[in-house]
Amino acid sequence: MGRQLTLHILRYNPDKPEVKPYLQPFKLEEEERMTLFVALNKIREEQDPTLQFDFVCRAAICGSCGMLINGKPTLACKTLTKDLPNEITLMPLPVFQMLGDLSVDTGTWFRELNIKTEAWIKTEKKFDPTALEDRMSNDEALAIYEADRCIECGCCIGGCATANINPDFLGAAGINRVARFMVDPRDERSEAEYFEIVGTGEGVFGCVGLMACDDNCPMEIPLQEQLAYVRRKMALAGIKM
Ligand code: SF4
Ligand code: FES
Repeated sequence: MGRQLTLHILRYNPDKPEVKPYLQPFKLEEEERMTLFVALNKIREEQDPTLQFDFVCRAAICGSCGMLINGKPTLACKTLTKDLPNEITLMPLPVFQMLGDLSVDTGTWFRELNIKTEAWIKTEKKFDPTALEDRMSNDEALAIYEADRCIECGCCIGGCATANINPDFLGAAGINRVARFMVDPRDERSEAEYFEIVGTGEGVFGCVGLMACDDNCPMEIPLQEQLAYVRRKMALAGIKM
């Protein structure tokens, strides 16, 4: 017989603001290799079909299932209940628009981020389908790959003190996104152009250095290094301007 778990889940329906948010306890028996994804599904199937939460891949790939698990922003599909105490509190990620219970809208936030950071390669070069492919060094390709591993789960944003008080802050995910294009040799943006995007209080200079993002990123992207890289480049660009 497995442990008796109690999941205290935040319930709130933004369409019914007259019902204040509250924590609802659900009891269930732990099973071997149970993830929080399995636990939440069991609760929805067996106890309350109205419970809202997001999952797509169940394999830490899609980034849908970020939530606060005992206060820590992380992926529910990657979290085994055996690593948690008997009492588990689940809340939605802050910062993002709440859709209901544990479900938040990270998609709109990340779409806006991509627009704000102009997250595409900017070049004057005309595409020539007959030309040989441009080569890049292994180090450049690896640096791009490292930053591109972001699955847009929002855990770095939900746990960030600055993002929680300043809705315009790009956050670690945004600064990492900018770093991805800075290291790309095909991108022809000048440092001054990048400064406009990220050399501000809403960008890299808004970070107060608590580095919860680095602790919370389930993909273990070296966010501290990425922030330091962009901050160094933007500080130098600011001196030159
Ligand atoms: Fe999630 Fe990490 Fe990307 Fe932040 S940087 S959104 S924590 S994968
Ligand atoms: Fe896709 Fe958790 S369900 S990351």
